[in-house]
Amino acid sequence: MLPSAVAAIGSTPLVDLARLTRGRGGRILAKLEYLNPGFSKKDRIARQIVEDAEADGSLAPGQTVVELTSGNTGTGLAIVCAVTGHPFVAVMSRGNSAERARMMRALGAEVVLVDQSPGAAAGQVSGSDLELVEQEAQRITRERGAFRADQFRHPGNFRAHYLHTGPEILEQSGARFDAFCDFAGTGGTFAGCAAAFQERMPQVRCYVVEPDGPHHRIQGGGYSMELPMLDRARVDGTIRVSDGEAISAARELARVEGIFAGFSSGANVAAALTLMPAVVVTVINDSGLKYLSTDLWE
Ligand SMILES: Cc1ncc(COP(=O)(O)O)c(C=O)c1O
Repeated sequence: MLPSAVAAIGSTPLVDLARLTRGRGGRILAKLEYLNPGFSKKDRIARQIVEDAEADGSLAPGQTVVELTSGNTGTGLAIVCAVTGHPFVAVMSRGNSAERARMMRALGAEVVLVDQSPGAAAGQVSGSDLELVEQEAQRITRERGAFRADQFRHPGNFRAHYLHTGPEILEQSGARFDAFCDFAGTGGTFAGCAAAFQERMPQVRCYVVEPDGPHHRIQGGGYSMELPMLDRARVDGTIRVSDGEAISAARELARVEGIFAGFSSGANVAAALTLMPAVVVTVINDSGLKYLSTDLWE
């Protein structure tokens, strides 16, 4: 028995997508992060950032936590803050799907929605939309004397994946794979896993997955901006994926493998397929349930 939902974060299964790769002469090993309590991999960084900040004294008992989120980090923080007794304010662009705000509110968070920049399309959150969310997050943090989780910069983001996600994959795969690819938002998953993999297996090739243009529908990343956490020395290449390719891969993943995931997981699988024949590790970032209000599902 576990003492709380926070202790249920991590230790997710690694699954061989053998049906999807049949006849291609390679394998895709998919880390099922949608099985975390908040249905995404971002639960991991929420736990790590709060634990690290409590340990180093930057987060005091009962102090409010504020974060900019596309929904998943906010959901993770709502869970961690509910259990650890911190009020939590999530600041999110209106361009992200509505079920995310509802879920965070249900978990006790205060959700502040920020309008997109003029002319922006709903479902397409750009770097300039994110800049508006950032300004609002900074304002609220100052006003309330809060702790800013700061997922784009806090080392807990990298550490969550360097200490846990990466080593879990190494253990589950027997350290037998050729390549790793992941769609970058903050780049924390990519950087933490790539560091853990390449320290043990220097020959593993690590690819950042990106949308094929600045206007795209792959929520959670592809912001076309500098990522402080992403160590370019670990990047062996970039794989560009279109919205259409991400959507068809997410649908095929559901139909063929019984794995119900979102746009960015589809992008990861589409990218992994371009690396065949090889054994490729990738991440199933969040649940398809988070996109029921979009046309990802017909
Ligand atoms: C659905 C989804 N996919 C991918 C990512 C990108 O992950 P990372 O920030 O570790 O690069 C995020 C981050 O918020 C996300 O919510």
